[in-house]
Amino acid sequence: MTIPRPRPGILEIEPYVGGKAEVAGAVPAIKLSANESALGPSPRAVEAYREAASSLHRYPDGGCTALRAAIGRRFNLDPARIVCGAGSDELIALLVRAYAGPGDEILMSRHGFLMYKLAALAAGAHPVLAPERDLRADVEALLARVTSRTRICFLANPNNPTGSYLSAEELAALRSRLPEDVLLVVDAAYAEFVEAADYSDGLALARAHDNVIMTRTFSKLFGLAALRLGWMYAAPPIVEVMNRVRNPFNVSTPAQMAGVAALDDLDHQERARRHNAQWRPWLAERLRLLGLEVYPSVANFLLVRFPAEPGRDAAAAEAFLESRGIIPRRMDEYGLGDCLRFTVGLEQENRKLVEALHAFTASGDGA
Ligand SMILES: Cc1ncc(COP(=O)(O)O)c(C=O)c1O
Repeated sequence: MTIPRPRPGILEIEPYVGGKAEVAGAVPAIKLSANESALGPSPRAVEAYREAASSLHRYPDGGCTALRAAIGRRFNLDPARIVCGAGSDELIALLVRAYAGPGDEILMSRHGFLMYKLAALAAGAHPVLAPERDLRADVEALLARVTSRTRICFLANPNNPTGSYLSAEELAALRSRLPEDVLLVVDAAYAEFVEAADYSDGLALARAHDNVIMTRTFSKLFGLAALRLGWMYAAPPIVEVMNRVRNPFNVSTPAQMAGVAALDDLDHQERARRHNAQWRPWLAERLRLLGLEVYPSVANFLLVRFPAEPGRDAAAAEAFLESRGIIPRRMDEYGLGDCLRFTVGLEQENRKLVEALHAFTASGDGA
């Protein structure tokens, strides 16, 4: 019997596996596997979400008018240049689908966010991975892989899962040497956490150049991952393309209402930012004191390398942590099987993680 076959490339896609949410016996588990906000959503966003319950029978505003206006106010942007999506994941997938297809290439760095590769394969395009230096995107290596078939270059700044970033200067250099018909997508999902003075979220470039797009999300600092809400800022012709390819009601009413309320709660945003600025360096230092290799990170997570010895490696560490109800993120799908990624949690969660890793590294085999 023959069964219908999908387009070439689709069966090459390994479905994206999100961070685990549960471990046997631990209620509630300490979930450090998905870079969610330690502090959760703004109470005002939760209230707005509840209010949306009274209009669940109505279709959402397909233009996200109030939300785009609120984003525009908060970031001083023209709402006409903003497109909202069901998470920035949706926008990434739509950009690839709109601008690339079979025979085209989508450029990214070796450990760039996995969705770029999955979106390329889903569109039948070819993902091209440029090598990195010390788990950091390398502008020269990216540029060296540009061909006449390159349609989009994705750069997460800062990047997940490495936590590294390119400076404003490096980003500008990358842009200036990309052909004008190649889109540069700066994915600034973790922008709000970055304190480095030489950082740029890509907005200045997106304002100045029609081939640069910045994407953002409400899933990280704003703590609204469950609602699936992201947005992008781009030149009018790109906005027009996106409004043709997206579904007419791609962002739900509860997400739109909660997003507006979350944007207005500056105190909550500041608390989440300060929490991360305090606990990420604390966690990095404690894990280094345990002898683990911690990569420099400007986001709300840390990538940590474990020794390659059985019983002391990343797999053993994961099993040990899970036995204590702590869920890290395995990195095998990124080709970083010797690493685990940890999201910065609440104070007690961070302390429990350090205690558990102390016990693990002291015992050697987790026994
Ligand atoms: C770099 C990066 N971009 C985009 C996303 C997707 O975010 P969203 O929840 O808005 O789809 C993530 C989520 O982990 C991410 O790490």
